[in-house]
Amino acid sequence: MTLILVGYMGSGKSSVGKKLSKVVNYNFIDFDTYIEEKVGMKVSDIFKTKGEIFFRKQEHLYLKEVITKRKAIVALGGGTPCYGNNLNIIKEAEHSKMIYLKSSISNLTERLFEEKSSRPLISHIDTKENLLEFIGKHVFERAPIYEQADIIIKTDALSLDKVVESVLLELF
Ligand code: S3P
Repeated sequence: MTLILVGYMGSGKSSVGKKLSKVVNYNFIDFDTYIEEKVGMKVSDIFKTKGEIFFRKQEHLYLKEVITKRKAIVALGGGTPCYGNNLNIIKEAEHSKMIYLKSSISNLTERLFEEKSSRPLISHIDTKENLLEFIGKHVFERAPIYEQADIIIKTDALSLDKVVESVLLELF
């Protein structure tokens, strides 16, 4: 099986994916890192020097590759399911489950404000209020895509272990 984690930046896809992969003995693949290795540049540098459209093309190309990995948990980028026909590619992948880690706008803002410098889409936003407004609009646009997941976990009130436990309960 291939477990595909989706959700906004800062929703915990990588932490949950790593932990879950140990429990079920699957390989963990962080898709941003996967792209960075293939392109030979950090995501933030790809955005800076080649632009977002180039990044989205690489994302689309390597999604088709990564989605075929078996016994794998793939943490996608926050935007991956939202461009081109990526959602179809994800939904139609064989023996796969799409899992949405759903967090509130306020929790995402709190988490992302501390680490926004490494995230090209939000690094320019100066105050927490402006970040909250940006994330609110962005999640509003993207939520209909994320909500197509097979499994939706509301993570706000849950510890990392509880999120992992909830995913396992839904899966098996
Ligand atoms: C993006 C999310 C990032 C990364 C890129 C664009 C997005 O991934 O792919 O900065 O469009 O939401 P994470 O969700 O892993 O931070």
